[in-house]
Amino acid sequence: MEKPSRRSVLMAGGTLGALGALTVATPARANALWTWSPEGSVVGRGEGADPKWVWDEEADSLVAALLKRGDVPKVNELLKTWTKNSQALPAGLPADLRDFVERARQLPAWTDQAKLAKAFEFNQKRGLYLGVTYGFASGMMSTAIPHEARAVYYSKGGADMRDRITKTAKLGYDIGTEQAFQPDGEMIVTCVKTRLAHAGVRNLLPKSAYWTKVADEKIPISQADMMVTWHSLPTTVMKQFAKWKVAVPDDESAAFLHSWQLAAHMLGIKDEYIPKSWDEANAQAAQVLDPILAPTPEGIKLADILLNLAAFIDGGILTKHILGALTRYVLGDEIATWLKIPKEPVWDPVFENLWPPFVAVREGILDITKAPKELREFYWVFDEIIRQGVLLVLSGANYPISIQIPTTNNPN
Ligand code: HEM
Repeated sequence: MEKPSRRSVLMAGGTLGALGALTVATPARANALWTWSPEGSVVGRGEGADPKWVWDEEADSLVAALLKRGDVPKVNELLKTWTKNSQALPAGLPADLRDFVERARQLPAWTDQAKLAKAFEFNQKRGLYLGVTYGFASGMMSTAIPHEARAVYYSKGGADMRDRITKTAKLGYDIGTEQAFQPDGEMIVTCVKTRLAHAGVRNLLPKSAYWTKVADEKIPISQADMMVTWHSLPTTVMKQFAKWKVAVPDDESAAFLHSWQLAAHMLGIKDEYIPKSWDEANAQAAQVLDPILAPTPEGIKLADILLNLAAFIDGGILTKHILGALTRYVLGDEIATWLKIPKEPVWDPVFENLWPPFVAVREGILDITKAPKELREFYWVFDEIIRQGVLLVLSGANYPISIQIPTTNNPN
């Protein structure tokens, strides 16, 4: 019998057993490429399989079956009405999907409600910097993550980036709300729907002639890819905060980490890959994120689309320059140059020289009257960027925002 390839196995929907077989052979310490130990994870143990060869067998085979039966449009329509964490699922869902969602919506035993309450305080206090870092550190960084850039570009969402951003921003918004993981919150719903959307992408992208031509993997969105993107979010945010000298008390920092650990679990990342502390997170990021950042033609095009998205505000006269400069400031020269973001002779020095005192003034470290006088002119610009950023995200939304399982790839 012909040895099944990972792709054909996934297509057949028989991922569970086969992926298990593929993954157990690579314990962490035996593999030079993957040395991060599950002892550093939230559960302190695990098989130690290289996450490059692990996907989400339960969700992937379920969505393979839904696609095969032609059930996805009906499921998407029905799930639009499921918005609150504790809400009963709508009637009429296929039994296998219902069973999966009922399991997938359960919080893990290691959930710490006190930490979640503290995380809300942190999100409230730091909303401004979180907005900037999620958007310009994490969001723009995603275009320099080759697997993600290609997956996004060639999947259905790649054809309408504004819609994609709005849906992704919903996750960033939901995690920061007071009820995020509580019965009245929406974060669990958003995560479970995203988990299903990712499973759709794993089933569909291997059928894209465009994606298969450029991809260096057979199935997208492995557990390693998930951790890469995860690190582009909270780990990168915390690094930026440290760089800007935004003081974060230990309890708030631990709480913020906890909210993202839970998000990871609810998105289908296996507990053994979720770091238990910032030290472990930084060690893992150094292994999975830092070395893989690189330019791709798809990432360059996505970065350009993203920087142009705000053009409707002012016809692009200022926005593109300001957003480009902010990206260069946050991500650094090397990544900005990869993404072919032009140097901005006016705006680059503004961020370089005035963002640190802007933060210092907001943090109460610096008296505005003692700040560089130009800051007084530009203070409103910085505040305005945040305001317009929110507007931009909201303007793309079709309410209610509902994350869907794709049924096709990007046709272009
Ligand atoms: C969809 C978040 C990891 C590729 C989404 C959506 C969210 C999301 C909220 C729904 C938005 C929409 O439907 O347009 C996240 C988070 C991640 C993560 C929080 C990690 C912590 C990844 C990775 C990849 C990826 C690693 C690829 C390597 C995609 C693609 C879609 C998507 C292609 C679009 C589906 C479509 O075209 O309809 N993701 N994602 N994501 N994600 Fe992720």
